[in-house]
Amino acid sequence: MEQLSWASEADGTLQPLNGFTCMGSRFGVRPDPSGDGDGYMSSDALVFFDWDSYRCLDVLHEREDELDCDADDDEQVKWLRVTTRLLRTIVDDLPPDVLAIDLDAAGKVTWTSTDPQHNSNVSTYYPSVDEYQLPPSSRNLTTLLRSDLTVIDRLGSGVDKVSYICPISGQEKTVAFKSSPAVAHFGGVWDEIQIMARLPPHPLILALDSLVLEELTGLGVVGFTTPVIQARTLDKLSPSPFKLRWLRELMGLVDELNLEFGILHQDIAPRNLFINPDTDSILLFDFNWAAGVGQTQKDGYKTVKPARNDVKGVMYFMYLIITRDPKYSVWQLDFVEEDVLEDREGWIKHPQVQLDDDVSAFYDELMAWVRTRRGHSPLAHHTQATRHIEVPIPPKPSRDEVEGGRGANLAGVVTPCQSRLAAGRPVLNWQRPPKAKIDKCRRLLATGRYADEKTETVPIPVPDPKRGFPQPPARLTRAKLRRPVRNRLGLGGSEAPPNRKTKTRRKE
Ligand SMILES: Nc1ncnc2c1ncn2[C@@H]1O[C@H](COP(=O)(O)OP(=O)(O)OP(=O)(O)O)[C@@H](O)[C@H]1O
Ligand SMILES: [Mg+2]
Repeated sequence: MEQLSWASEADGTLQPLNGFTCMGSRFGVRPDPSGDGDGYMSSDALVFFDWDSYRCLDVLHEREDELDCDADDDEQVKWLRVTTRLLRTIVDDLPPDVLAIDLDAAGKVTWTSTDPQHNSNVSTYYPSVDEYQLPPSSRNLTTLLRSDLTVIDRLGSGVDKVSYICPISGQEKTVAFKSSPAVAHFGGVWDEIQIMARLPPHPLILALDSLVLEELTGLGVVGFTTPVIQARTLDKLSPSPFKLRWLRELMGLVDELNLEFGILHQDIAPRNLFINPDTDSILLFDFNWAAGVGQTQKDGYKTVKPARNDVKGVMYFMYLIITRDPKYSVWQLDFVEEDVLEDREGWIKHPQVQLDDDVSAFYDELMAWVRTRRGHSPLAHHTQATRHIEVPIPPKPSRDEVEGGRGANLAGVVTPCQSRLAAGRPVLNWQRPPKAKIDKCRRLLATGRYADEKTETVPIPVPDPKRGFPQPPARLTRAKLRRPVRNRLGLGGSEAPPNRKTKTRRKE
């Protein structure tokens, strides 16, 4: 599902949605607040995912001056930002079982619902380690259960600092745990694990440490861990000079990835690089957008996005490191024009940035490399690369996972949790206490639960070892409330603008 965490302003810059991702909208049905008995209200509720508590919430937000259906996108975006700002102030105090709310124009909560019909969460198919078909070199990767991980801190969206007792050494290990709790295709980590596990160990690439499995069956892969890097990502200003050597390392690494392995990272940006304090060299991570040259969605992997090409990514990286241009600092690579990056006039060093050489030295060396790369005849397919890596075709989830879900026979199978729950199927819980409410005297696990908390035991049918999830025979009921709606804000395939036209209808 396409999601919107950043909204485009009139001047083209992107602004975050206050720690939420807008997952779209859905048709909501609520009791008539006029209380005159038998009426009900219907409206489009926006569905927000909160990256702090990993909860999904249907939000209806009334505004005094009704927003017209045809209001332009800037108006709609402004409205999204107003809503999420208000939501931020109240979300931590909502009981964890609340699934939908109404906010009045001032942001006061006027209605809440715990009715399962308002559960907008989705569930996905988590392939098993077997289905990943990892190469022999990765077979000795540790596998852990999510419930083995104690959360120490939150490092970023979907990334926690966690510790676990290493099953081999018996020693406690602190690592970074990455998952995709705003559930995405195949757990959202399929491609990233496939690529990271198949690239040979590289001093400039963050290594895999372990695979993390869901604790319901102990089969489905929900994420992975990497060594924690004790450094800030390069989007944060550093007091020490940025070295020309680091730019050379990055250009060399991108050549190696693109030309030798046939892999495109597609998200080269300061926020996805560290300077490794142990080696004083760059360290690239976040292969979330990575794809093989020529890979298509048909293969079930991320597609190649020309506007995210790595040569442009390196230009974007270096331009931002030097200029700290606030206009571009929150942009995604796709939105930046290459002409802007190439224009030498724009390369004005930010007063607080330190470099170990002149701006010209960085610019000239970078542009010489860009020219060489552009003159290089491109690979048509990653299999033409000298050290290309083979990735398996994703498994086809069994029919019961597809029914009522999206993306039949493709990599992406996403089923409404509501349907699974109605069919008596287990759903993996991601919701966790908001950071401000964590009980520091208790051990919080990566399951979102405290270690001393009693969890309901779900009767688990005997799992098929090839699958990541149990497979009870019950039929899925289709989600009744979902309906196709317009796509205006780039909110994804089924989004409606945050139009707040609410109508009250009488029951016959
Ligand atoms: N191994 C690690 N050690 C320390 N911090 C980490 C590590 N891995 C990730 N982080 C932190 O978590 C943040 C998010 O990680 P990552 O970039 O992999 O996730 P993402 O959700 O794909 O990010 P985005 O799409 O916003 O770039 C990073 O910017 C970094 O601050
Ligand atoms: Mg990142």
